Amino acid sequence: MATAQTEVEAQKKAAADRALELVRPGTVVGLGSGSTARYFIAGLAERVRAGLEVRAVATSAESRRLAEEGQIPTTERIDGSLDLAVDGADEIDPTINCLKGRGGALLREKIVAVASRRFVLIADESKLVGRLGRGPVPIEVLPFLWEATSRSIESLGGRPQLRTTAGQPFRTDNGNLILDTTFGTVDAQLGVAIHAIPGVLEHGLFFRVARAAIVGSATGLRILGELA
Ligand code: 5RP
Repeated sequence: MATAQTEVEAQKKAAADRALELVRPGTVVGLGSGSTARYFIAGLAERVRAGLEVRAVATSAESRRLAEEGQIPTTERIDGSLDLAVDGADEIDPTINCLKGRGGALLREKIVAVASRRFVLIADESKLVGRLGRGPVPIEVLPFLWEATSRSIESLGGRPQLRTTAGQPFRTDNGNLILDTTFGTVDAQLGVAIHAIPGVLEHGLFFRVARAAIVGSATGLRILGELA
């Protein structure tokens, strides 16, 4: 068991190390959230300490804390696009659509991903799926009348479950709630329909957003899509 865990961590780190090669000096880089993104942030911090000049936009309070601890200059104001954003994922399909948000940072993660010229996923091979929807779709909703929002999600065929932590509703960095929602079929149209519900701020379906995925595997790195 411990060995299997070590292998997964090695795959995450190998993917993050490959993504570090994509960072161009003088650019703004988007930092994802979660355990895989943490390897990327640690590696970027090492490069910054060695003299690399970059600025970063963090997608969560935790990633911002890690960046600042690593002396990576952070910003929340950019002119134009970010050059690159690197983030983990919960599920990645063969065409690099992905499902994100089990860490609860999906709203900022999607803003950063869409604002980036290159959005690259990093993951271990357990995240590869034939089709998105193996697990629930995280949906960030405004706390105001969230039960009404939840009922609207049910009318799309979803089964929403309020995310809790230590018996209390989980709050995102933005002060909102997450409804982890199981659907029979997950596709791009579903994403559009979820978005149209008042009270929904964002969902964790990223269709046609990622340009590439770097996936660690037992036999080496697999690259899906185009890294350049
Ligand atoms: C957080 C996310 C994470 O990127 C996703 O949950 C993957 O995390 P990990 O690398 O720890 O498996 O979407 O909102």
